[in-house]
Amino acid sequence: MSRLVIHGGRPLTGSLPVSGRKNSAVAVIPAAVMATGPSTLGNIPDIADVRTSLQILEALGVRWEWTAPHTLRIDPRPLRSQRVPAALGKRMRASYYILGALLGRIGEAIAPLPGGDDIGQRPIDQHLKGFTALGAEVSVARGDVHVAATRLQGARIYLDVVSVGATINLMLAAALTPGVTILENAAREPHVVDVANFLNAMGGYVTGAGSDVIKIRGVEELHGAEHAIIPDEIEAATYMIAAAGTGGDLQVENVVPQHLEPVTAKLREAGCEIREEDEAVRIRAEGRPRAIHVKTLPYPGFPTDAQPPMTALLTVAEGTSVVTETIWENRFHHAAELQRMGARIRVEERTAVIQGTERLEGADLRGVSDLRSCAALVVGGLIARGTTRIFGLDYLDRGYEAMAEKLAGVGAFVERFDDDNVRLEPEDILPDSLEGRPGA
Ligand code: EPU
Repeated sequence: MSRLVIHGGRPLTGSLPVSGRKNSAVAVIPAAVMATGPSTLGNIPDIADVRTSLQILEALGVRWEWTAPHTLRIDPRPLRSQRVPAALGKRMRASYYILGALLGRIGEAIAPLPGGDDIGQRPIDQHLKGFTALGAEVSVARGDVHVAATRLQGARIYLDVVSVGATINLMLAAALTPGVTILENAAREPHVVDVANFLNAMGGYVTGAGSDVIKIRGVEELHGAEHAIIPDEIEAATYMIAAAGTGGDLQVENVVPQHLEPVTAKLREAGCEIREEDEAVRIRAEGRPRAIHVKTLPYPGFPTDAQPPMTALLTVAEGTSVVTETIWENRFHHAAELQRMGARIRVEERTAVIQGTERLEGADLRGVSDLRSCAALVVGGLIARGTTRIFGLDYLDRGYEAMAEKLAGVGAFVERFDDDNVRLEPEDILPDSLEGRPGA
């Protein structure tokens, strides 16, 4: 079984590059399918969810190639199918974007009800309500969603919940729908703006993205375009939080500091010193963080995807912290694993009460079925004294590019093993020079 072995307690120091944003990549790739010609997408992370997205394109007949590291060329001209195979679609949540993209482009799409992390019920009723408002027939049978329309027409759509996925999916469909579509109570996440920018680069007409009212004037066709996607603020947040917990001095590169504000503000409150530059953030931390209260909210609130790593950090804070998860009903998988390391966390429904302890101790942990909860275990392992082994990295691989290499580059002792036959002992990863040192 794949596993990460972390010998914790080492401060993260130096500079670490952040990849392109997962949740932007998995939306921009289907958007490229809507064009009449090829598009070139830059800053695309090499992660499992991107590879699944590309397999889905292949199943639709769409051609793609990596023309350089992190640069994808997508040619949608050979599109010949409107069906996402169930086995692929169920692997990730974002397979639902093919519904909006193909509904706009060819008036029909079939995709399985989406999969993804196990973080609670994940309905797509708002996506379907929006497609219906645009004039599509929507049906769900044998686990597949089928959307079809002979004629679409722009509409005013009020989203009952603030949904990133529904906002983007409806923007995609509406971009090629005659007339004007107005999305009210839209999500404001920076990757919604990123997708709108790409649609506009393709000749689309989208205004208001980034606010809660988005207006889309449908155009007859979209042409291929060049677009570089925005940096992954959750990856950046994960490493900033790890630096905060290890008494590090870390420069996180290739970020938009403004996108990180909700996380930066909370880390400052916890006692970290953070300096923002044009495209980088430097975080310095000493000693234990202060306890803080965190409540997840849609952007620009504190992101749910950074909640699990933040929870891991607060296990070693001075005082008692309260973390409230308002987006997903079941996103504390990491709590039980962190308890094995000595964390004192009590979870009641959507709230975790964390009584900070002086330190965590390394332990053997099970990679849990939520990408960000897995990231929380990595943060725990980096903070803890001794050796932590995290078994089962499938979920982590969905969203973090080259995590072990990036962490090793800033002073962490992290090694990854994918070979089932290796019997691993903690000393296998200890460099000679560290033996006997306190904390090593
Ligand atoms: N919701 C509905 N009906 C809908 C859609 C959503 O009730 O039709 C509810 C959800 O159940 C949830 C809330 O609305 O309670 C927000 O869901 P949203 O649609 O915003 O989430 P999503 O689009 O499915 C994306 C990210 C998630 C991230 C959330 C919130 C992708 C592929 N996924 O999911 O990312 O947690 O937005 O920011 O973009 C992750 O990267 O680890 C991850 C889970």
